[in-house]
Amino acid sequence: MNNTASNDTDNIRGKVVVITGASSGLGEATACHLAAAGASVVLGARRADRLTSLAGKLSAAGGKALALETDVTRFDQVKRLVDTAVQTCGRIDVMINNAGLMPQSLLERLKIDEWDRMIDVNIKGVLYGIAAALPYMQQQKSGHFINVSSVAGHKVRPGGTVYSATKHAVRVISEGLRQEVKPYNIRTTLISPGAVDTELPNTITDPVVGENMRKFYDEYAIPPDSFAQAVAFAMSQPPNVDVNEILYRPTRQEF
Ligand SMILES: NC(=O)c1ccc[n+]([C@@H]2O[C@H](COP(=O)([O-])OP(=O)(O)OC[C@H]3O[C@@H](n4cnc5c(N)ncnc54)[C@H](OP(=O)(O)O)[C@@H]3O)[C@@H](O)[C@H]2O)c1
Repeated sequence: MNNTASNDTDNIRGKVVVITGASSGLGEATACHLAAAGASVVLGARRADRLTSLAGKLSAAGGKALALETDVTRFDQVKRLVDTAVQTCGRIDVMINNAGLMPQSLLERLKIDEWDRMIDVNIKGVLYGIAAALPYMQQQKSGHFINVSSVAGHKVRPGGTVYSATKHAVRVISEGLRQEVKPYNIRTTLISPGAVDTELPNTITDPVVGENMRKFYDEYAIPPDSFAQAVAFAMSQPPNVDVNEILYRPTRQEF
């Protein structure tokens, strides 16, 4: 059994990592962290200008980065992102299903379009990421899925019902995936952050909920590199160690 502990970059260097939602927040911070540690990062999101400038910045710093405009609600686009990673880099080692949004509101506001959007991006986007990467990982007999849930994937509060439901779904999908991919030597990690300082609260359209959330984030949120560190921890374990769940919060956060 080879269970030798390696330092962080040993098990990150050279890996091919696809990240959805890489144009801001947690995805962007993770792209920076992993590229600096020697991974090749393949970045997907809808805002192509931001992705391209991020990939340019990482390449200028000596990293390997590729950007591809991707809407995770479109399976053909997620598949194209993953196919491009494999065609360009020869394989896919890690699929980070990170894209998401959080337009919270009370159910009685009947913001049905926003419920649909959360279900499409937060749940179906993750499933599409799995569908695009799984065949390659099965064939390689190796790979690593990192799915992003939330503290809201463990709890619910008024205003957060649909968002919490989508993040609970990501947890269940990740656990089912974990059990199903055992024969293929594929690892699965679910990361559930608390409040992290990103653009996420900007997706809230309800003025009262939005203002309360922004105040909460202003007071409590921690930097997005906290998430990148969690990703790096899971990735840098020896191949026979599968870190299945990481739940973390700002130290001061009660919820
Ligand atoms: N920040 C937190 O406190 C926190 C806590 C727990 C969990 N999370 C989760 O962390 C993940 C990342 O969020 P964040 O905090 O980094 O927020 P963010 O800064 O708003 O980033 C969200 C990312 O998702 C992308 N995205 C949204 N819709 C998309 C679509 N249809 N197709 C492709 N990409 C899409 C956005 O890119 P484009 O707009 O360019 O497409 C952006 O890159 C989400 O799943 C969120 O639920 C965040």
